Amino acid sequence: KVYEAVTPRTKAVLAVHLFGRPLDWTALQSAVDPGIHLLEDAAGALGARWQGMPCGGLGAMGCLSFHPRKIVTTGEGGAVTTGDGELAAAIRRLRHHGLDPNADIASPSTNYRLADILCAVGLPQLRRLDELLAERARVAAGYAERLDGVVDLPGADEGDTHGWQAYVIRLDRREEAMNALRAEGIEVQIGTYALHHLSAYRDQGPFPCADAAFERALALPLHSRLTDAELDRVAEGIRRFA
Ligand SMILES: Cc1ncc(COP(=O)(O)O)c(C=O)c1O
Repeated sequence: KVYEAVTPRTKAVLAVHLFGRPLDWTALQSAVDPGIHLLEDAAGALGARWQGMPCGGLGAMGCLSFHPRKIVTTGEGGAVTTGDGELAAAIRRLRHHGLDPNADIASPSTNYRLADILCAVGLPQLRRLDELLAERARVAAGYAERLDGVVDLPGADEGDTHGWQAYVIRLDRREEAMNALRAEGIEVQIGTYALHHLSAYRDQGPFPCADAAFERALALPLHSRLTDAELDRVAEGIRRFA
């Protein structure tokens, strides 16, 4: 699909490690010409690893999100990752109105700074990242144990480490399950939206896979303090609609 979408005008491809699941980087690399920059949307993949290498560190640049539904949160905000010094300097300028170290603005930008106060909220979480990831992996394993063979379960490819930003299952009776579980006080969510169903992005052609994902995907509660009894309760609710 990526191969088909690339045209002579394509300068970069922005690929998503969705819900913390590392995408197949080799497949992506082989689908595009080496002159095209590969960028990573690692918004939900802090701590996830593709074949041992950190997501956000694979392409020319990556972005992380610190939104409340993410693994580390500062309420709002995010970060850009890159191993390229020139890009890093450019990003620092763009973050700060385009101002360079000589106090000149050669190319204007706006204010993309993450406030120091928010960094003070995020840094202690970053120091505990391994612990946070382990707890999320515990919850994911707990769901997998309870729902294996019942619904379509998420998982990483062999050799990859999932970051478990979200635990999104797929089931045909998603809508019924979502309404019933919510009525019982279990906060499940639509797993993912399909852009072409939203007014601003309509009429761009058929996207049957996005349709199916939108109709069937359900995000289960996922935070580091979920107990076994709570996992039992969610799984029991899901089983009724499988
Ligand atoms: C895959 C992905 N990309 C981008 C974003 C946007 O992140 P933010 O809300 O921090 O701009 C999100 C978060 O909702 C996300 O999950």
